[in-house]
Amino acid sequence: MSPVNVRVPAKINLCLGVGPVRDDGYHPLATVYQAVDLHDEVRATGRDDDQITVSVHSEMDVRSEISVVPDGDDNIAVKAARLLRERTGISSGVDLSIRKVIPVAGGMAGGSADAAAALVACNEVWGTGLSRPALEVLAAQLGSDVPFLLHGGNAVGGGRGETVSPVLARGSYHWVFAMAHEGLSTRAVFAEFDRLNTGAEVPEPVVPDALLAALRAGDAEALGAALSNDLTEAAFSLRPELEDTLSIGIEAGALGAILSGSGPTALFLASDEAHSLDIAFALSSAAGCADVVQSRGPVPGARVG
Ligand code: C5P
Repeated sequence: MSPVNVRVPAKINLCLGVGPVRDDGYHPLATVYQAVDLHDEVRATGRDDDQITVSVHSEMDVRSEISVVPDGDDNIAVKAARLLRERTGISSGVDLSIRKVIPVAGGMAGGSADAAAALVACNEVWGTGLSRPALEVLAAQLGSDVPFLLHGGNAVGGGRGETVSPVLARGSYHWVFAMAHEGLSTRAVFAEFDRLNTGAEVPEPVVPDALLAALRAGDAEALGAALSNDLTEAAFSLRPELEDTLSIGIEAGALGAILSGSGPTALFLASDEAHSLDIAFALSSAAGCADVVQSRGPVPGARVG
């Protein structure tokens, strides 16, 4: 059986509107996702028995307790393979090998990306032939961001993030990402959001019109001004030094600066390649910054190849 390789991008949220916590513990979101050119790779090799194994090879030197990728059955890629197997009623096994580039617990959906890639890779290696919409149903069960990582490009996200609809968008954008020394737990940041909003009336989230207009026009300057993230205060509360990281990028002339999802990765919009290099250079000496990466978006979702 020949192995199948799937490349899957990281995601950023150009806006992240967060509503009041629901009865199931999740928060309603109004977001615009963009898939960016920072990829993990998942290789699936079929087995003769029914075992599912995983090995992880990391490219990042970002390490903390929370940043360790779980192995065995706790790994979300293994959960994805098991779910596909249950759904299709097959009993095949697979060896999954993950090459990690997307930061772990970085607010860029690194774990969700591997789940999306594992679904696509196992569907191919096992010949289970599920359609993309059928895979998206499984993806939503695995995590809020997983359906978007199958989709890629730009998309509006609703529900708890799992409902994905296309958005009219033009242009390719230059991003700089500042990775922090330690990951942040998404769950902890949402819990801090609730704590900070205790007793307050949290409105239902909406995607700002200005952001949609900027994307339709392909206007980087307007997009930079329209970037927003309702989890900023909660992430700053847990990690005060993130405020300095954002300030350094803004002083270096970024068109816009926000945290990626629940953080701690910070993202900066640049007008072109040279501008992106200037911002990256300014950030590289920032104390809270473990690594700086220049990237582009949008890019396609999880794909074989
Ligand atoms: O969906 P996912 O497993 O990626 O979410 C991780 C955690 O983030 C959830 O357990 C929940 O605590 C929090 N979360 C949330 N509201 C969302 C998405 C995630 O509260 N819309």
